[in-house]
Amino acid sequence: MKLNIAVLPGDGIGPEIVAQAQKVMDAVAVKYNHEIVYTNALVGATAIDKVGNPYPDETHEVCMNSDAVLFGAIGDPKYDNDPKAKVRPEQGLLAMRKKLGLYANIRPVTTFPSLLDKSPLRLDIVEGADFVVVRELTGGIYFGEKGRSEDLKKAFDTCTYTTEEIERILKLAFSYAGKRDKRLTVIDKANVLATSRLWRETAQGMEADYKDIEVDYMFVDNAAMQLIQWPKKFDVMVTENMFGDIISDEASVITGSLGLLPSASVGVHTSVFEPIHGSYPQAAGKDIANPIATVLSAAMLLESLDLLEEAKAVRDAVNQSLDAGVVTEDIAKDDNVSKTSEVGDWLANCIKK
Ligand code: IPM
Ligand code: MN
Repeated sequence: MKLNIAVLPGDGIGPEIVAQAQKVMDAVAVKYNHEIVYTNALVGATAIDKVGNPYPDETHEVCMNSDAVLFGAIGDPKYDNDPKAKVRPEQGLLAMRKKLGLYANIRPVTTFPSLLDKSPLRLDIVEGADFVVVRELTGGIYFGEKGRSEDLKKAFDTCTYTTEEIERILKLAFSYAGKRDKRLTVIDKANVLATSRLWRETAQGMEADYKDIEVDYMFVDNAAMQLIQWPKKFDVMVTENMFGDIISDEASVITGSLGLLPSASVGVHTSVFEPIHGSYPQAAGKDIANPIATVLSAAMLLESLDLLEEAKAVRDAVNQSLDAGVVTEDIAKDDNVSKTSEVGDWLANCIKK
């Protein structure tokens, strides 16, 4: 099979971790006889620096013409403390989501037995936790009308959702739950927000179509608490953009493996696969960042193209590297620390064997 993959390394550690995922995909291509053609494109602060736009039209073209997008990370501290900056790297990510119609962000959270002691939670609470956060990604307060009053003393952001937007993400979440433990938690703030009441109403209306799924509804504040108290109670969680942003960050640290968790953003056009962590600017260029989240994102990418055996080979290699202690400093248990590039090389060799 010939695969056309758009590669958007982005900022900070992005280029280093994406390079490891490419090594791994190349190894898969050799072993399973595929041809992978990569096309690199600019995004984020790097794109602002080079062409003044965090998601240039050329990048969008490359994404539209590819089978999948492998994405690194975006963000640069020089923009974070400048509320007056006119263009920001994050706008590139939001533009990409909107233009590719990526309405669903899927973050599977699984535990790695050998790393459970890295969790901030007690072993008995996290052991065996296994859930997916499905976050709506192109609506809500992120994309609603926003502005400032003339005297600049008032600002507003509007949260809007249509039934259509809610239905399509719920459909996806129901079908995910159907393939898993058949439990779906709809997270909202229906006691306060009109948009949340529409979410709840819409979900309730869909329950009859998915009789085998057990649905429950939870206010977001309560969900944030229960996620820490007993993460094992969740199977699939679905929620709107802003709540999903917060809940999925919270979810990602539960297993102690922030550097190991992948994500997929899917929707109307080409899907995007990226690690859930950020651009980790302090580590940029040092060859120390953990590439596993990006490598597992590549596994999700392969799965999305129905290359299941190939994806399994990647996952098996990752598990073996963890067992063998070929790991970066963030998850190393002793002085035996590997570099980012060494982990990539090891995984690639393991797959080719
Ligand atoms: C994420 C990030 C983005 C978001 C930022 C960088 C705009 O936090 O992907 O979760 O808030 O969606
Ligand atoms: Mn976030």
